[in-house]
Amino acid sequence: TILIIDFGSQVTQLIARRVREEGVYSEVVPFQKAAEAFRTLKPKAVILSGGPASVPDGDSPRAPQEVFKAGIPVLGICYGQMTMAEQLGGQVESGHHREFGRATLQVEATSDLFDGLWHPGEGHTVWMSHGDRITALPPGFKVMGTSANAPFAAIEDEERRFYGLMFHPEVVHTPDGARLLSNFVRKVAKLEGAWTMGAFRERAIARIREQVGKGRVICGLSGGVDSSVAAVLIHEAIGDQLTCVFVDHGLMRQAEADEVVSLFRGHYNIPLVHVDASELFLKELEGVEDPEAKRKTIGRLFIDVFDAEAKKVGGADFLAQGTLYPDVIESVSFAGGPSVTIKSHHNVGGLPERMNMKLVEPLRDLFKDEVRALGRELGLPESFVGRHPFPGPGLAIRCPGAITREKLDILRKADAIYLEEIRYAGLYDVIWQAFAVLLPVRTVGVMGDGRTYDHVLALRAVTSVDGMTADFYPFDMGFLGRTATRIINEVKGVNRVVYDVTSKPPGTIEWE
Ligand code: XMP
Repeated sequence: TILIIDFGSQVTQLIARRVREEGVYSEVVPFQKAAEAFRTLKPKAVILSGGPASVPDGDSPRAPQEVFKAGIPVLGICYGQMTMAEQLGGQVESGHHREFGRATLQVEATSDLFDGLWHPGEGHTVWMSHGDRITALPPGFKVMGTSANAPFAAIEDEERRFYGLMFHPEVVHTPDGARLLSNFVRKVAKLEGAWTMGAFRERAIARIREQVGKGRVICGLSGGVDSSVAAVLIHEAIGDQLTCVFVDHGLMRQAEADEVVSLFRGHYNIPLVHVDASELFLKELEGVEDPEAKRKTIGRLFIDVFDAEAKKVGGADFLAQGTLYPDVIESVSFAGGPSVTIKSHHNVGGLPERMNMKLVEPLRDLFKDEVRALGRELGLPESFVGRHPFPGPGLAIRCPGAITREKLDILRKADAIYLEEIRYAGLYDVIWQAFAVLLPVRTVGVMGDGRTYDHVLALRAVTSVDGMTADFYPFDMGFLGRTATRIINEVKGVNRVVYDVTSKPPGTIEWE
């Protein structure tokens, strides 16, 4: 086991992911519970995550001191590096040179961590996100790498096998990051194991059976990959004890609702109740402008409608959801951990106690790409598994400001054209997620001989592995120009198209 001590970084679970990819079991534990977990788990190595706190602040979190006395390898990342340095006798100061985003790491020395990968004298791209920096190394440590703003960007105590990285190796924007973590697992800690998706499937099925027993489960389908994979997995575990309910909120993309119905009824023969609730959702969302208010309204209505349907089918003991790990950490601080709330996610936020059902969430520990792998493992069609993610609140959060049926229609048409062009260009599978956003801004244009005063449409396309970090997709201008022309010609109500070139962080993928 590798114990990952979480100091509240938004990307801590990615570390667990990378460790799993090496086939080694890992557990993420919030720093408050780290001492206890360290004693019970007896890990073979420890990784200290990043986090929002600042080491020079007296009461910021620390790693249990035992971690450094057990004779096992320790890797500190970002905040984890700072606290390790401080706890072992070094010095950390609040940096005046903040570094966010891409930076170059200048390799200064050889190291087991860099083995077969990085060599002295080379520069490598890494992803930084920090405000503080180390100003004096603890005894026994030496520098393995520097960056423009951090003289101690990578440090090690070779003898004690303590490593500290100021950058984030767990995010895909550090291109060699996964291999650095692999080196830590295999070469430094010398661990190997057998954690696979097939094993996950079996364990998940056994767990669902154990949790549910003879109870009845009801599952809300959203049309997306997550809830579908959850439903198919649960169906495999408990068969007809499962009923699926598809609450159609009228905020789906073009033709999407029909696809869901035919996949479940036709392909899988899983019992499905399809409820058209679009009138209700649109009425309640009338005039609602605030993004959080929209999300909460949709979450609340979803539960209302769902609850009513659950009663109609005779009730259930359990509610199944396709909640993923990113949904969990970005909405609530998990297990009392310190992450801050970025957005209230539809599937976790606003679940009222009154539903009086226990939750079955078999995908809670998984990332999107792992869910896709599980979907393939379960035989879901590739066209479905490979689909871009779609948020629970649907097109409502792609229409900043108050939504109307008319705006949704415009957005749906434009979005369909955009996706069609992306497929046509052979880019659909290269892009993690692409969609259009209808802005509440009108601009003046000229079409034919007339003046127009219509909406601006923003196009968004990002690459990502898990939705936790992302980069905008670098379309060529020809593609963007062609798509803009088609949209403006074919969709009444749009007279200007812009492209969003923001990465995550600092942006989020969705606009609301
Ligand atoms: P953000 O905008 O937070 O999105 O960078 C990260 C990923 O999550 C999706 N997303 C949601 N998925 N319910 C969901 O199931 C939600 O409420 C929700 N909000 C955002 C988003 O589309 C992206 O893939």
